[in-house]
Amino acid sequence: MTTHTTYDTIILGAGAAGLMCAFTAGQRGRRVLLLDHAEAIGKKILISGGGRCNFTNLHTAADCYISANPHFAKSALGRYTAQDFLALVEAHGIAWHEKTLGQLFCDGSAKQIVALLQDECDKGGVEIALGEAIRDVDHADGQYRVSFGDRTARAPSLVIATGGPSIPQMGATGFAYDLARRFGLKVVEPRPALVPLTLGGDETLFRSLSGVAAEVVAKAGKTKFREAALFTHKGLSGPAILQVSSYWRHSEPVGIDFLPDLKPGWLVGVKHARPRVSLASVLSNHLPGRLAETLADRLGIEGELGAATDKAVDAAARQLADWRFSPNGTEGFAKAEVTAGGISTAELSSQTMEARKVPGLYAIGEAVDVTGWLGGYNFQWAWASGWAAGQVV
Ligand code: FDA
Repeated sequence: MTTHTTYDTIILGAGAAGLMCAFTAGQRGRRVLLLDHAEAIGKKILISGGGRCNFTNLHTAADCYISANPHFAKSALGRYTAQDFLALVEAHGIAWHEKTLGQLFCDGSAKQIVALLQDECDKGGVEIALGEAIRDVDHADGQYRVSFGDRTARAPSLVIATGGPSIPQMGATGFAYDLARRFGLKVVEPRPALVPLTLGGDETLFRSLSGVAAEVVAKAGKTKFREAALFTHKGLSGPAILQVSSYWRHSEPVGIDFLPDLKPGWLVGVKHARPRVSLASVLSNHLPGRLAETLADRLGIEGELGAATDKAVDAAARQLADWRFSPNGTEGFAKAEVTAGGISTAELSSQTMEARKVPGLYAIGEAVDVTGWLGGYNFQWAWASGWAAGQVV
């Protein structure tokens, strides 16, 4: 393919959002240059969903996203839906299945999604340049100039699609924020999200449960998720914990209902029906044995349940329904599936993703302050925001 130095648009970052934007614009007849410092496109896609890529979620709606402006994502998500991406997956003959909770995965491999994106980029004549660091970006006379390797390319529009800094060991950077700030755009403080939480102090005792999982309702602030929680050698993980981690703030507790199907008063009922049974034994009917023993131990009800007062038994049941953990932190960007925060939505048009005060500059995907729940929502935001910008660049 001929390499041009002048394009209609230059897109920085060949991840999910950048690739979608590139082929959408390319197939509209725009001359597109897509740049990435990595040696290959879509590296996070390849490791996503345990190698099978949870590529979208059928229940996608703006309230499944965290943003300083909860309405911002509505326009793009409404115009490019989970069904739209699914239609593309089917057009490429990729077999898929719904795992749970509307989460769609490839039957085969995440490589198929990357191949789909590459194929669509080829159809749109997108020029992709990989493996070169971006040396400089500037803007003068209505043109963006990007220097990389030994080349400089120019275009009247520039799309920031370099994602967030989660999993830096894979080449993720805070480049998007630095660039946005250079153009005068505000950035909402980035923080690790969908990330395991760490326990310290008295709660390090729970580390001995490493590997034990249970279905719980986990809560941070007013937000609750019913999914599996997992004890780890550092603290808490599993889908329920990853979900609440995005809402959790330092020094706040995380509440866990270990027995979400049991009604208040259930344990006093058991005490009266079976006074000779121990608490650990009752709990082991509902929870893994090691967890049942640890919780019973911490609740301090020893011996037969009948020996404790109704008040003490009821207090134990209430604690089991809202066990307060006090995480001392998270496992950080190194283990975070996504980054919350990012380029402020107040700076961008929700229709086009263009910066209001910097004509021709766009931001899409995880670089923007829109963070989805676990379960395919983040890719759907990457597709939808990439598509929205791809209509106009
Ligand atoms: P993304 O990070 O994909 O792409 C950014 C690109 O920019 C990268 O190619 C990077 O190399 C490039 N780049 C960065 N800095 C640069 C620089 N300075 N110069 C040049 N290029 C630069 N989501 C989901 O919906 N379903 C799932 O199954 C999963 N699974 C999952 C697993 C794991 C382990 C992780 C870490 C994340 C997920 N996610 C997920 C989240 C999902 O991967 C993420 O939200 C999207 O990839 C975001 O797409 P973007 O294109 O915005 O960024």
